[in-house]
Amino acid sequence: MGSLIARVLIGAALVGAGYAISLVVPRSAPEMAPAVAPAAMVTTDPVARGRYLVQTSGCNDCHTPGYMMNDGTTRESEWLVGTDLGWNGPWGVTYAANVRAIANAMSEAEWLDYTATLRVRPPMPWPNINAMSETDRSAMWHFLRAMGPSDNAVPTYQPPGETPASVWVDMTARLPDGSVAGPPPEVSQSG
Ligand code: HEC
Repeated sequence: MGSLIARVLIGAALVGAGYAISLVVPRSAPEMAPAVAPAAMVTTDPVARGRYLVQTSGCNDCHTPGYMMNDGTTRESEWLVGTDLGWNGPWGVTYAANVRAIANAMSEAEWLDYTATLRVRPPMPWPNINAMSETDRSAMWHFLRAMGPSDNAVPTYQPPGETPASVWVDMTARLPDGSVAGPPPEVSQSG
């Protein structure tokens, strides 16, 4: 019994020392990586899996108002409602869509077809969605349905040459002297 208590005390002291060291010694990146996958990564619950995918695939960065500027603290009830920030580039001005409204107006089968072939303009990373497995795209739909629809209105796409309808960011590639760099990259105008 006495030796058990001693072992517990020694153990506690070691943990305490380790904690103290961790406060002063910067840990290397590999040590900081979690040893165990987050629960949502391995869950079979499609809503939890969809939430995890949305959060880690960057969808909120563009589709959730303020998300990038407030360190991702936007309330979940306001996720993916679309924004009126215009992305102004050689393709015209695009606005991140209200994905909640879109998914909630579609059956799961429609959403799976839609996301398998989705092709829109920059900076939307649509090839990433095309490349997701059907299981993952289904999980996303379940999460979007669980969040419910949103009636947030987003400005419609504007072709090149139009004055942006809202606050916009300049996505024009420029040389160091500020002049426009070469011909714009090949972009899709469909969708
Ligand atoms: C870098 C910004 C950005 C990121 C990241 C991003 N989107 Fe988008 N998304 C946009 C923009 C801008 C549009 C509008 C494109 C257009 O009008 O052609 C768009 C369009 C869409 C559309 C098409 C809407 C329509 O009109 O049919 C869907 C669906 C969508 N995004 C879902 C997602 C999902 C899901 C993610 C995360 C995996 C994501 N987006 C990540 C910016 C982004």
